[in-house]
Formats: sequence, structure tokens, C-alpha cells
Amino acid sequence: MPPKVLVTGAAGQIGSELVGVLRDRYGAGNVVATDKAVTRAQVSAGIIEPLDVMHLSSVERAIRSHHVDTVFHLAAILSAAGESNSDLAWDVNMDGLKNVLDASSRLGVDRVFWPSSIGVFGPDAPKDRAPQGAALNPSTMYGITKVAGELLCAYYSQKHRVDVRSVRFPGLISSEAKPGGGTTDYAVEIFYSAIQSGEYTCFLSKGTTLPMMYMPDALRAATTIMEADPEKIRIRTSYNIGAMSFSAGELEAEISKHMPGFRVKYIPDSRQAIADTWPRSIDDAPARKDWGWREKYGIGAMTSDMLDKLETKLKAGQKTFNTTGSPARRNV
Ligand SMILES: NC(=O)c1ccc[n+]([C@@H]2O[C@H](COP(=O)([O-])OP(=O)(O)OC[C@H]3O[C@@H](n4cnc5c(N)ncnc54)[C@H](O)[C@@H]3O)[C@@H](O)[C@H]2O)c1
Repeated sequence: MPPKVLVTGAAGQIGSELVGVLRDRYGAGNVVATDKAVTRAQVSAGIIEPLDVMHLSSVERAIRSHHVDTVFHLAAILSAAGESNSDLAWDVNMDGLKNVLDASSRLGVDRVFWPSSIGVFGPDAPKDRAPQGAALNPSTMYGITKVAGELLCAYYSQKHRVDVRSVRFPGLISSEAKPGGGTTDYAVEIFYSAIQSGEYTCFLSKGTTLPMMYMPDALRAATTIMEADPEKIRIRTSYNIGAMSFSAGELEAEISKHMPGFRVKYIPDSRQAIADTWPRSIDDAPARKDWGWREKYGIGAMTSDMLDKLETKLKAGQKTFNTTGSPARRNV
């Protein structure tokens, strides 16, 4: 029997692609996609129904009425948005997660997926190959909610037997939905600008190196850890997972291989201070050993695929699309 899945925050950067993957795997009728902010078009297309994770009774009603046994809890406020509104970040990230865990415990949900982040690391963590067991002393509200969330997941798994599984995602690069207020958003914006105008102003410095991952790998990580046998999940806080690390300048150089005229200016803003506290790379040996984590995309394959997908999407979606000023794409 396929699982009956509820996805929260399904209209976001991850959810808008994860829902399709889950529907392909388990059947369209077995995946209920929900989000707080739901457009009329999404509702009438049957893609999304409204669910505010701040209301425990609404979460319980959704689980009960759809006979849900598996939850992918994605609703959250991300790092940069969380620094601008730290009260909201605390409320949504903590109360939302606790409501999902309480409802899952009470209603006998089999499995819960909840993503943590490299934002759990603070300035004192090793910058290179930050290990699974590094000290977690984040200096952002987002990171604080992720560390507390990891501990909450471990607590519910131990005390309430909720089979909750988690990975610490690096910055995610994707072509479907635009990112929702993170510190690594530049690595998505840069592709839109490269195609649309041939130039980009980056909010991080050229040398800022961060762990990153292409969305197809992130989606595979989520489904792989959720389908793994329970005894393989030895870490019940959250697993480090890595794929690639690059600086903003290295991404510019990679895009320039395809678009030789591409120009980037670097004008760091407040997000630089957040990026400076995060590691450059991650050691994910336990995830590889325990449940077989392997990435498929490096910077070269990701860049080429992003440009292909976005060029197609932007040409199809924008009647006003105009390549004037944008450099011609070269095959590499
Ligand atoms: N995107 C990344 O690079 C990245 C990296 C590490 C971890 N993560 C984690 O993955 C998860 C999903 O991230 P994302 O990139 O899809 O985020 P996103 O900001 O794109 O989407 C989050 C969604 O949550 C919804 N939401 C906000 N408040 C809500 C509420 N009260 N009730 C219901 N829905 C609400 C928003 O409307 C939005 O659609 C988050 O936990 C995030 O911390 C993301």
C-alpha cells in the first residue's frame, strides 16, 4: 500500500517540486499538498489546500480527514526572512513543528520528514568539512529554531515514538519556484539574471563559499531517507548531507563558460554576515554509511541543467521575454 502523504508549505521552493515527485511515486490521490498562502488557481487546479501549521486543530483535521500516515513538514520562515522578522521565525518554525509532531503522535502518523539546515552551524564550527557532531552554536534566529527543532525531533522520536527523519539541507538551487528568503538565494537569482539581462548584482562577496545542492538531489535525499528501514536511521536529530561547495565567483565562472559575456557585480548586504557564520563544506559520512546518501550533481552538471530548464521556462512563460543584452549561450 502506498503511503498517504501530507505536505505542508507545499507552495515553496522545495514543496513545489517535491509534490510532483511524491505524486509520481505514490499516486496523485495519495498526496495532499497544503500551504498557508494558497492562490485561487492552485486550489482550482487541485494542487493545494489551505493549512496554517500554527493551528494544531487544523493540522489534526487535515491528517484525520485525509487518513494521512506520512508528513513532509516544509512550512517555515527561512534564514534571511527570519532575521528580518525573528518573532515570526520563532513562532512558525517552533510552533509549526511542535504542532506537526503532536498531531503525528496523537493520530499515529507513521513517518515525518522535517528539513533542518546548515544554518545550525555557528561561527565556531569547523569551516571545512564541518562534521556531523560539530558544536551547534548558530547566531541567527533561523539557526536557533533549527537546532531546537532537531532536539525536538529527537525528543518526539524517543519519548513519543514518532518516526521523524531529518537532513540538514545546504543551499538549494532550483528552477521551479523561486527561493523564499534564504542566504543562498543568490545562486538561483544569478541564473535568471544571466538569461534575462546578462548581468547580476550579487549580495554576497565573490569569495564566499557555501555548501550547495541541486534540487533533484535534495528531493532524492528526502525520499531516500523516508523510505529507508527504520533501523538504518541512527541519528534522530538531523543528518549532514553535502553535494558541492562553490564560491559566488566560481558560479559566475561556470555560467560564463556557457555565456561568455556574463558580468557580475558584488555588493554584499546584510546576508553576508549570515553566510560568514556558516561552514564552507560539510562532512556527511554518517548519511552515506547509514542510509546510502549519494549526490548526483556537481557544479558543472547543475549549471548546464539549470540554464537548459530556465531558458525553456522563461521563453515559454514570458511573451515579453527578450534576450537583448543577454549573452548568447555557448555549448560546453
Ligand atoms: N531552500 C533552501 O535552500 C533550504 C535549505 C535548507 C533547509 N531548508 C528547509 O526546507 C524547508 C522548506 O524550505 P523552502 O525553501 O521550500 O521554503 P520556502 O520559503 O520556499 O517555502 C516555505 C513555505 O511555507 C509556507 N508557510 C509559511 N508559514 C506557514 C504557515 N504558518 N503555515 C503553512 N505554511 C506556511 C510559505 O507560504 C511557503 O510556501 C524549510 O524548513 C527550510 O528551512 C531549505
